[in-house]
Amino acid sequence: METIFDTPSRILFGAGSRFRLSEELGRIPVSRVLLVTDEYLRGEGIIQSFEERLKSDGIEVTVFSEVQPDPTDQNVTAGLACLRNRGAEGIVAIGGGSVIDAAKVIGVAATNSLTLSAFQGYNKIPNRGLPLIVIPTTAGTGSEATKAAVITDTQRMVKMMMLDANLMPRISIVDYELSLTMPPALTANVGVDTLVHGIEAYVSKRANGMTDPLAISCIQLTARNLLTAYREPQNRRAREAMALAACQGGMAFSSSGLCLVHGMSRPLGAIFHLAHGLSNAVLLATVTRFSLPGARERYADIARMMGFCENGEALMDGLEALNAQLGIPRLGDVLKVARSQFETHLRKMAEDALASGSPQNNPVVPTAEEIVELYRRAW
Ligand SMILES: [Fe+2]
Repeated sequence: METIFDTPSRILFGAGSRFRLSEELGRIPVSRVLLVTDEYLRGEGIIQSFEERLKSDGIEVTVFSEVQPDPTDQNVTAGLACLRNRGAEGIVAIGGGSVIDAAKVIGVAATNSLTLSAFQGYNKIPNRGLPLIVIPTTAGTGSEATKAAVITDTQRMVKMMMLDANLMPRISIVDYELSLTMPPALTANVGVDTLVHGIEAYVSKRANGMTDPLAISCIQLTARNLLTAYREPQNRRAREAMALAACQGGMAFSSSGLCLVHGMSRPLGAIFHLAHGLSNAVLLATVTRFSLPGARERYADIARMMGFCENGEALMDGLEALNAQLGIPRLGDVLKVARSQFETHLRKMAEDALASGSPQNNPVVPTAEEIVELYRRAW
């Protein structure tokens, strides 16, 4: 099988690497940038310090902070208007996965005259986006190292999955010091997302020799460090390890594809606005149980890597125990809707999950009916 492996052309990793932003912009070179972020980070004062440093280095900067969690087509359109208004020639994204995804799509919207929905799917973006430098503030989504972006189509209530090498950031600056202030619940959510990236990259039908070592490292680092980062937010070694795991997980799944957990979690986010990591976490054990017969050896490898036991059966118990330790409840307890209302959405959710392409990478490829049943089991 032929494989294609894309990464950013440069990754800076380590404490203090964020201070090299101006230097990296100069190498491209870009002197007028749109800084994409969200209101929370802007309020925290982090953005202001980046802004001041850029200005003192002679870089013209405009801040766009209207990206919301689960970014929408409207966020992208507003960001594009801001970019054109100021004549920005490059983009810097500082934030979590939502901010980075929105910035990627703003970048390609600037160089491709298509409606956003035309970008949905695999390899649908003809032109490379504007130069993009990303600085993740949460160790989790791995978006800093992927050619993927997820944008909600507000008309159709669908999370559009876009996968194209033209979405890949030019440069990623991964500085774990920015994640030291993440609250424990967020650490748990994005940390489980990282774990699922590693697991799904490893069991995917498209896993390959380039992605396996990254997926294995991602799983091992997460297994050894997530609980510590959750319990001791200021633990620098654990934060550094989680930042590395997130970046490696992103690099792996960007080429191997994701599987059924992500396929089923996106509709939960689109319809019930459940945080991405949480929606993965509540599905992980149930979906693993379903997928196990398709890749017993690979799941047994994962159980060993996580220190659970020598077989895939032990993995499910271990994953459920991990959720409990991280304070993650069951699906029925986190959704703020009645069971009957949940039922009315299941058919569309199953169809949207299949349409995303991710379930087709799963060790066992489900039917729509089986996906509906899995949602019920996870409740
Ligand atoms: Fe994810």
